[in-house]
Amino acid sequence: MASALHPAAELLFYVNGHKVIEKKADPETMLLPYLRKKLRLTGTKYGCGGGGCGACTVMISRYNPVTKKIRHYPANACLIPICSLYGAAVTTVEGIGSTHTRIHPVQERIAKCHGTQCGFCTPGMVMSIYTLLRNHPEPSPDQLTDALGGNLCRCTGYRPIIDACKTFCKTTDCCQSKENGICCLDQEINELPEFEDEDKTSPKLFSEEGFLPLDPTQELIFPPELMMMAEKQPQRTRVFHGERMKWISPASLKELLEAKAAHPQAPVVVGNTSVGPEVKFKGVFHPVIISPDRIEELFVVSHTYNGLTLGASLSLAQVKDILADVILKQPEEKTQTFCALLKHLGTLAGSQIRSMASLGGHIMSRHLDSDLNPLLAVGNCTLNVLSKEGERQIPLNEQFLSKCPKADFKPEEILVSVNIPYSRKWEFVSAFRQAQRQQNALAIVNSGMRVFFGEGEDIIRELSIYYGGVGPTTICAKTSCQKLIGRPWNKEMLDEACRLVLDEVSLPGSAPGGRVEFKRTLVISFLFRFYLEVSQILKKMDPVRYSSLADKYESALEDIHSRHHWSILKYQDADPRQLPQDPVGHPVMHLSGIKHATGEAIYCDDMPAVDQELFLSFVTSSRAHAKIVSIDLSEALTLPGVVDIITGEHLDGINIMSFLGDPEALLATDEVFCVGQLVCAVIADSEVQARRAAKRVKIVYEDLKPLILTIEEAIQHNSFFEPERKLEYGNVDEAFKVVDQILEGEIYMGGQEHFYMETQSMLAVPKGEDQEMDIYVSTQFPKYVQDAVAATLKLPANKVMCHVRRVGGAFGGKVSKTGIMAAITALAAHKQGHAVRCILERGEDMLITGGRHPYLGKYKVGFMNDGRVLALDMEHYSNGGFSLDESLLVIEMGILKMDNTYKFPNLRCQARVCRTNLPSNTALRGFGFPQAGLITESCITEVAAKCGLSPEKVRTINMYKEIDQTPYKQEINSQTLIQCWRECMAMSSYFLRKASVEKFNAENYWKKKGLAIVPLKYPIGLGSLAAGQAAALVHVYLDGSVLVTHGGIEMGQGVHTKMIQVVSRELKMPMSNVHLRGTSTETVPNANVSGGSVVADLNGMAVKDACQTLLKRLEPIISKNPQGTWKDWAHAAFMESISLSATGYFRGYESNMDWEKGEGHPFEYFVFGAACSEVEIDCLTGDHKNIRTDIVMDVGCSINPALDIGQIEGAFIQGMGLYTIEELDYSPQGVLYTRGPNQYKIPAICDVPTELHISLLPPSQNSNTLYSSKGLGEPALFLGCSVFFAIHDAVSAARQERGLFGPLKLNSPLTPEKIRMACEDKFTKMIPRDEPGSYVPWNIPV
Ligand SMILES: Cc1cc2nc3c(=O)[nH]c(=O)nc-3n(C[C@H](O)[C@H](O)[C@H](O)COP(=O)(O)OP(=O)(O)OC[C@H]3O[C@@H](n4cnc5c(N)ncnc54)[C@H](O)[C@@H]3O)c2cc1C
Ligand code: FES
Ligand code: FES
Repeated sequence: MASALHPAAELLFYVNGHKVIEKKADPETMLLPYLRKKLRLTGTKYGCGGGGCGACTVMISRYNPVTKKIRHYPANACLIPICSLYGAAVTTVEGIGSTHTRIHPVQERIAKCHGTQCGFCTPGMVMSIYTLLRNHPEPSPDQLTDALGGNLCRCTGYRPIIDACKTFCKTTDCCQSKENGICCLDQEINELPEFEDEDKTSPKLFSEEGFLPLDPTQELIFPPELMMMAEKQPQRTRVFHGERMKWISPASLKELLEAKAAHPQAPVVVGNTSVGPEVKFKGVFHPVIISPDRIEELFVVSHTYNGLTLGASLSLAQVKDILADVILKQPEEKTQTFCALLKHLGTLAGSQIRSMASLGGHIMSRHLDSDLNPLLAVGNCTLNVLSKEGERQIPLNEQFLSKCPKADFKPEEILVSVNIPYSRKWEFVSAFRQAQRQQNALAIVNSGMRVFFGEGEDIIRELSIYYGGVGPTTICAKTSCQKLIGRPWNKEMLDEACRLVLDEVSLPGSAPGGRVEFKRTLVISFLFRFYLEVSQILKKMDPVRYSSLADKYESALEDIHSRHHWSILKYQDADPRQLPQDPVGHPVMHLSGIKHATGEAIYCDDMPAVDQELFLSFVTSSRAHAKIVSIDLSEALTLPGVVDIITGEHLDGINIMSFLGDPEALLATDEVFCVGQLVCAVIADSEVQARRAAKRVKIVYEDLKPLILTIEEAIQHNSFFEPERKLEYGNVDEAFKVVDQILEGEIYMGGQEHFYMETQSMLAVPKGEDQEMDIYVSTQFPKYVQDAVAATLKLPANKVMCHVRRVGGAFGGKVSKTGIMAAITALAAHKQGHAVRCILERGEDMLITGGRHPYLGKYKVGFMNDGRVLALDMEHYSNGGFSLDESLLVIEMGILKMDNTYKFPNLRCQARVCRTNLPSNTALRGFGFPQAGLITESCITEVAAKCGLSPEKVRTINMYKEIDQTPYKQEINSQTLIQCWRECMAMSSYFLRKASVEKFNAENYWKKKGLAIVPLKYPIGLGSLAAGQAAALVHVYLDGSVLVTHGGIEMGQGVHTKMIQVVSRELKMPMSNVHLRGTSTETVPNANVSGGSVVADLNGMAVKDACQTLLKRLEPIISKNPQGTWKDWAHAAFMESISLSATGYFRGYESNMDWEKGEGHPFEYFVFGAACSEVEIDCLTGDHKNIRTDIVMDVGCSINPALDIGQIEGAFIQGMGLYTIEELDYSPQGVLYTRGPNQYKIPAICDVPTELHISLLPPSQNSNTLYSSKGLGEPALFLGCSVFFAIHDAVSAARQERGLFGPLKLNSPLTPEKIRMACEDKFTKMIPRDEPGSYVPWNIPV
């Protein structure tokens, strides 16, 4: 046995140029925790642990002694076992630059181009770009988008990150795209003139002047010691023994075979991107792992007479490069399979996973949705297999893919290489896939198809069709293919093929993954596309013999995705009359931008461990509604390191938390009301032990009835929270009597996950004196955490202090649940007398915390034939989950904002919160408006369709007049709304583009374009005076430096930066003289929650007030010495015993709402805007592309245009995700399936509109607010629905062409599934449909 022969080895690798020797390398340890906890390099972040988010990106460099080359590649540290790093050099964000030494140009540019907001994704972004530049110092835009495809950002909307990257491209100011002959520098795009407004100045948000140049000679060199080791060290098998696991790294092929023979069940781990997630998320355990990373034979690249042989350990990125190279060199007819593989390698995962994952690992994993296996199978590839018994070849076919014992590997065999044959003349291979998102998303269905004709004829001699995603493994439509042999390639054959394949590739209604009808449709849609592709090639080969496709059918063949992006931003720079040093109105970089980019910005889990710190892990309910029969802690308590387990029983008298007056248990005791409800908390001396023990807690449940999950079920069971809300204006019933037409409808809108990049994090530290407790927590509401902890510990609030330096994204999700979890964590710390840390894993976070409320909107609308809406009767139902949380406020805001920009003279809107057995839904950016607004806009769209008018016409007709009144009788001046609307129309060349869209649609049958413009009125205010009060504290020190603090939380929106701008303006001192350390209940007590777009508004007023108080006090001193410095004045004040510290206070905006009367003044002001989006859809697959978006916003006088534009575009992209791709899947038992980035798709870089234009209206005065600025955190999210309506428009065009003129009902999100199924055609008609009720679906819309 290898371990007997080889004693445990020392692990040696380099991190950032420093040698790391690990004597006790544990194969279970991944690089990410090793970097963060052991090496204290906390710049690399945890975002998901499964390779899906890119937050943990590092660069790995390896030297190959045979080729003498160094390979640098990006990798996800969360999936790299440290044992795999022997001899490698790891570079983390700390290794490329820091503020203490020199920052790297990538770090500088991403910060200065405003590519960071909360900053949590930034180190990963930096490392992806850095690695790209190490390999390609002047990358192309294609390479850029590829490099960032595996990095998610929830804040920025990616545009500024793209801009930062583009500064490294050869021609920085050009998209370098010549797609369709159009480049961003071309003045006319789509032959349409660009909008130019003479009055506007468009200064750049950043200046490239002074950017540090990229100097490759300055980079860290590959450690010479590692090179020498690779060249000279005797090759011996290395073995690492962990606590439970052994890692064997053989030195030769012979030893590898011996190791495999000795441990036949041990996986052969290369990239660990398949084994790693199984271990982490599915609880699979392997006592032994074999690593073939040093076996040269597994890296072979050999060109044979028949094709290409590729070593099993080559990474997918290497395979991609090799194929691209061969395709260039070989004739087209020989490279059909290679081209198909290359196509899928372009979208498979992100660049990190492609660089880690191996070809062999991919093939051997045989994932049901593998992109490559269907292609390798149709390409007749064979596998070269080796064991101690000898070598053999296995065909990569259906039997192998279904693990049929006769055709499978024997446990002791390993895969050495893969033979990919050249294609032959008259042989054609195609690759198809459709996913929820174009890039870095597993396919819903994919396929490989191959046909071979006899020379010069169109008779099918061979046909091979494989599908992924439609069965438990990759499947082959073998019988269908056999039956089609000998048939000519024509339409009759296609029809027959579709029928045969549908019969053979049958998918039950209850199939895992759901989307059954969509999948069935894709199966034949791909077949149709293959038919068209091949027909087109045949036509090209012999134009006389083969008839051409009708022009409009050719559109099926074009790929709609473009990798190039460009943007135009227009805003007015600061008032020229301003003092030169006054930073207000300037695009000042985020205060922490550089620290985000260097990894120096400290988030909660970056704080060093406190002495004897413990870790807390929650056990949550696995049932949606059940009685807890028993909780057995015995086994968990016996595990090493476990200190305590807290259950509801330990919380006698304190097991209740009241948020906004609604009580909720901290830990469930007798009954659970949702899957994911907290049941107990395990405390252990390490994270690993706490998580392991949590899995051993045994809870016995007895299911209870009723089980209510969906809004429909709640309505049936009359399961609602009280009170209901209603708003009435005019006389709806009377109005219905006089209208020309009435229509009734409904729209369902799914929920949304916050997906802040930093998961819920907290650290409770008992101070050891006077029962004091400090809580460091990632929250938007420190005061609530303080209250929750104080109540649980039965302490006065003055003993509990809550501190927040920054939050890695929150969006409303770090308020109520955070308080509950912090209270339990603090209780554990209090009980144990030790600090306790609790950091949720992504899956736990998504399961426990809830998100945006799903909504059902029902409407009855009365209107005139000219489009005027006279009566609207609406009902909103929100799915609140099992506790009320903020749901009442959400429906209230939904009702108050549902009018959007329209004057409905007679309106009735009622709203109810459904009580269901789901985790409690809560605040999420926009707070009810994104749902209510969509319902209203859908209604308007339907009215327009009924009247035969364009939606924009009906929108304009019903828009508020300049001075008007809202349904709650608050006055509204909508002058700037009309301005935004008009400017957006003009800027987007709306009517010209509409005509061009219509032309396109007339010419293309399978692709349709859609255009939509949507207006926005977002009322700002919190509905109560008390909720808007804010406080600040400003100290001047004797050296003249200033420390400011306030009640607002920095969660990416840049509030601290704005506050320093305020201090700088007020005290007339440079921003560099002002410091802000964070937010704490110790410095500013009783601060309100940070949210509702008003954090800078309110706290800025308080900061301003504090500064003015100070100035007033110091006025006599300053006037005595007007030329003095702040140091002089501070000193003089001190000598005269004048306080240099002041609090500032803002009472909040006057605000009231009387729900009984249905009137009030709940809002202080309105943010107006408009967005126009153009999309293209693929009617065959449901795919869509965002071609262009134009946004015009009225932001008052921007305090910081860079931050404000950042909020607008970040919110827009988040909204676009909400309305188009973000889809939560729940099982019929109420279990959330979508618990990480691999299942839940937020927008990635591929989703950013190809063209993005943002324009801010010229500054307008709004005297009540801080320097006439407006709150912009939430409003633009709604504008994402312009993409929804553009898709709606495109789908309508498709339907009309297909003769479907009835009303079009489309729910949100408008995913590929919904788009495809709405574009009804002969394929959607051909598929079998299941009788509702005849099967149990995999998922249900809640
Ligand atoms: C975030 C993420 C996104 C992804 N997206 C996609 C996608 O879009 N499309 C897609 O198709 N796939 C996708 N994948 C799956 C990915 O392609 C596979 O996980 C990967 O190719 C496996 O390669 P690996 O080297 O990491 O395998 P490992 O995890 O190292 O090993 C996997 C299996 O292969 C076996 N094995 C490996 N090498 C050999 C050998 N030489 N001989 C015998 N057995 C061997 C091992 O025993 C093990 O059982 C994604 C994965 C992740 C984590
Ligand atoms: S934490 Fe590694 S990819 Fe998300
Ligand atoms: S800045 Fe990218 S996630 Fe916050």
